[in-house]
Amino acid sequence: MHIQTYDQLSEQVALKLIATVKEKPNACLALPTGKTPLGTYQTLTKHFKIDPALDWSKTRCFALDEYLEIKESDSFHTFLIEHLYQKSNIATENTFSPAQVVNYDEVIEQLGGLDLTLLGIGRNGHIAFNEPETCPLSFTHCTWLEKSTLDANRSDFTGKQPDRAITVGIETIMRSRRIILIASGSSKREIVKQAFSGEITRRVPASFLQKHPNLQVLTDFGFSLDTTNSW
Ligand code: PGA
Repeated sequence: MHIQTYDQLSEQVALKLIATVKEKPNACLALPTGKTPLGTYQTLTKHFKIDPALDWSKTRCFALDEYLEIKESDSFHTFLIEHLYQKSNIATENTFSPAQVVNYDEVIEQLGGLDLTLLGIGRNGHIAFNEPETCPLSFTHCTWLEKSTLDANRSDFTGKQPDRAITVGIETIMRSRRIILIASGSSKREIVKQAFSGEITRRVPASFLQKHPNLQVLTDFGFSLDTTNSW
């Protein structure tokens, strides 16, 4: 299906997540926060409501990142609780945040590795909070946030805006069996083009995804990429 609207994008991604969990009920998912995945979570919520057979009780959910020194109500963890965890039968003990788990990558590995990572993309090309110049071999680590990231997210805070975060690394993401990156709106068009039609460079962290054998890029502005064709 050719995606033309944000609603269509959200529906497509929600269906892929549902299919992943149907195929493997104890799948490990890495999940983003932010404006872009909100529609996906809202669509998932609708599916949970109309289909009581959807069972995510064994599904393991790993937040991609979290702010440091954040007011709990402004945290990504709270975002995921409010927009996804509470709307489903995902078990609290199966939800993980890099701010609450020591050795995030080891825990991911012990639970079988990530089956699917869903990503947004920052206007500077970041994935999770892997800002430009992050080492492509990075695992979960703390980082300072770039000005463009701070500017894009300024309105999300009721308390002080943090300038540091903990994030899964680029290598954490690359080890995921499947990756879906989603982008919405014309403000993301240029960076998506640079990331997936340009050179692979540390200046655009998302460009490293070009090397992943099972990647889908889905947008509502006409750009798409599928390195797999097996979905
Ligand atoms: P957004 O953030 O979905 O709020 O645009 C994406 C990102 O920074 O990864």
